[in-house]
Amino acid sequence: MTELVSKIKSHVEGVFKHDATGHDWYHIERVYKMAIHLQKSEGGDIETIELAALLHDISDHKMNGGILNAGGNVAYNLLIDLGCNESKALKVKEIVDGVSYKGANVADNMQSIEGKIVQDADRLDAIGAIGIARAFAFGGNKDRPMYLPDSKPEMHDSFEIYANSKSHTINHFYEKLLLLKDRLNTESAVKIGSERHTFMENYLQQFYNEWNTKI
Ligand code: ADP
Ligand code: NI
Repeated sequence: MTELVSKIKSHVEGVFKHDATGHDWYHIERVYKMAIHLQKSEGGDIETIELAALLHDISDHKMNGGILNAGGNVAYNLLIDLGCNESKALKVKEIVDGVSYKGANVADNMQSIEGKIVQDADRLDAIGAIGIARAFAFGGNKDRPMYLPDSKPEMHDSFEIYANSKSHTINHFYEKLLLLKDRLNTESAVKIGSERHTFMENYLQQFYNEWNTKI
């Protein structure tokens, strides 16, 4: 780990320590470790990947009061303040701005291999057992009901509509979590994602069985 990465890591650790929305420091740490794991088979500049993984949620709209696309600038300014060179700081900014899921009908546009890896690592943490836990933690924190059988999922056409949706948490599976396996960029992530996807499908089946008293 370079000195710059280590400084960013301490900063981010401080910022995310007390989060209870599923965006706590351990989320960042899992994304960071997964991104390093993916880099081993997929390539890309390791320092850029480490910095972008650590900074990817630094000013996410879900925690900053609803401002969309603020994270890139926050990441850029932090990096420049800590002596990072301009071109690397810009590359990290581009990744942070592009990493988020913006709605079922909004295409991703991640260009660099570094960005594709960080996005995959973030998405892998949104699915599977941990993804399920994070979704319910997030929903509870935002006062969302866990499930309303009569309220159906919606496929969102813009980031604004998606970000302002107040759906119950089971809908979130259909609006995002179950769609992620087909929106992973790298082969290494697809392999890890397919098991986590099946786990969520089985989970939902069990959830409905219990909901409907199918004993
Ligand atoms: P992204 O930026 O791609 O949304 P994050 O790292 O910010 O990824 O993680 C988003 C997390 O917040 C996911 O684990 C997701 O399940 C949770 N989340 C976001 N929106 C909702 C929602 N409407 N209901 C439940 N969970 C949500
Ligand atoms: Ni994240």
